[in-house]
Amino acid sequence: MHLLIQHGEIVTATATEMADVLCCDGKIIAIGPNLTAPADAQIIDARGHLIFPGFIDPHVHIYLPFMGTFAADNYASASRAALMGGTTTLIEMCCPSRADDPREAIALWKSKAAGISSCDYTFHMGMTRFDESSAELMKHIIEEEKVISFKVFLAYKGAFGIDDTELYQTLATAASLGAVVTVHCENAELVSQLQRQLVAEGKIGPEWHEPSRPMAVEAEGCHHLVTFAEMTGAEVYVVHTSCQAAVDILQSARAKGVNVHIETVAPYLTLDSSYAELLDFEGAKYVMSPPLRERAQQDFLWSALADGRIDVVATDHAPFDFSSQKCMGHPDPARCLDAHGKPTGNSGNFTLIPNGIPSVEERVKLLYTHGVCTGRIDLQTFVRCASTRAAEIFGLYPRKGTIAIGSDADLVVWNPEWSGTISAETHAMNVDYSAFEGWPIKGRAEWVTVRGKIMVQNAQWTGDQGHGQFLERTISRKDDC
Ligand code: URP
Ligand code: ZN
Ligand code: ZN
Repeated sequence: MHLLIQHGEIVTATATEMADVLCCDGKIIAIGPNLTAPADAQIIDARGHLIFPGFIDPHVHIYLPFMGTFAADNYASASRAALMGGTTTLIEMCCPSRADDPREAIALWKSKAAGISSCDYTFHMGMTRFDESSAELMKHIIEEEKVISFKVFLAYKGAFGIDDTELYQTLATAASLGAVVTVHCENAELVSQLQRQLVAEGKIGPEWHEPSRPMAVEAEGCHHLVTFAEMTGAEVYVVHTSCQAAVDILQSARAKGVNVHIETVAPYLTLDSSYAELLDFEGAKYVMSPPLRERAQQDFLWSALADGRIDVVATDHAPFDFSSQKCMGHPDPARCLDAHGKPTGNSGNFTLIPNGIPSVEERVKLLYTHGVCTGRIDLQTFVRCASTRAAEIFGLYPRKGTIAIGSDADLVVWNPEWSGTISAETHAMNVDYSAFEGWPIKGRAEWVTVRGKIMVQNAQWTGDQGHGQFLERTISRKDDC
């Protein structure tokens, strides 16, 4: 079965060219001017449109038991939302608790997606403890489960967080196996001390979340990690970097030869700490960790993205309903609900608000509107940070992340002239609010294909639920060639 996309302007991380793209059986088989349509070809007329490689979001949470509740999306809703926004591949964090059996956990996380996801997907395996069986486990995850990247949390003491011995052993094992470790960098002890202090002073609203995890706490986490990465030789990827203090530390580690990649996420580029100050507990919609920072940090992040210091823009999509989940931390005893939606009768506080902001559907639009349209980043940087770099770092390139002969036909036909607004009324995510409600947007994904199958047509969902495939990855060692 053929698909021919004609008359569009192809944009990759390195070039822009006017050309047609011909796909067959899920792969790109020809790129060039005036390609002839085979008799069975579906044809998309992309005149006036840009053609991007399918976007990749390498940091999402879909099945997430966390802070006494579960994230609101499932694979049906999240993968559909991703595709509506132009994202064709998701990498989800598999986050077992310390008490869980990790082999059962990866099987559970895979079962949540298999036959349900509409887009392609894989996982980072969460290492939430390290014991005598963990080195063998990591080998098994790579060789048998075909998951070649890991995740550790320096934050979330008592939940996902690991101690320094475990950090050292995880990184050393990953280094010996040639695997990348993604890391949430915040000093857990400082967070818990500051939380305790603020709550004791009666500072309990969502606006106190940021002061409980200030930039120095994130910077310390980053410094801690790169010191361990230097000692073990591990390749690390710092997730959701929110501020200059953190990026500067990671940059200087890079300059010393530490193999570190830097991710930021769409909320830090577009929102700031003032949103957490919104009245009537609306600020809870904007509680995530690390927290949204003061506005000045946004300018820094955009400039670090433009010059390549920041590799990737992901989302850290972690949706929790405002009406029934964020309110688990409501200060008013009458409005503070438990995980079953019953009033607790006790005063909640910001430490009980499930952390996370949903944006899997909006990342690409936000980057285009606030990055490309404002001239903060060019089209090549846009494609690189939202697709190509993630594919390269996580072993998916050139199957994903580019438009080239032999690559998967994951393509986004983008209307650069469209304008509209974001709203929870119209979004596909299974969450009852949008952090970007009413925001004007320029540009949208009009056709989206996954391995040559049209999933979105004229910006309307036409996809098959379950079309998504698990992406088996293998480690290609640099010393193999
Ligand atoms: O607030 C956040 N980031 N929620 C999701 C869990 C995590 O830390 O990535
Ligand atoms: Zn995190
Ligand atoms: Zn996360």
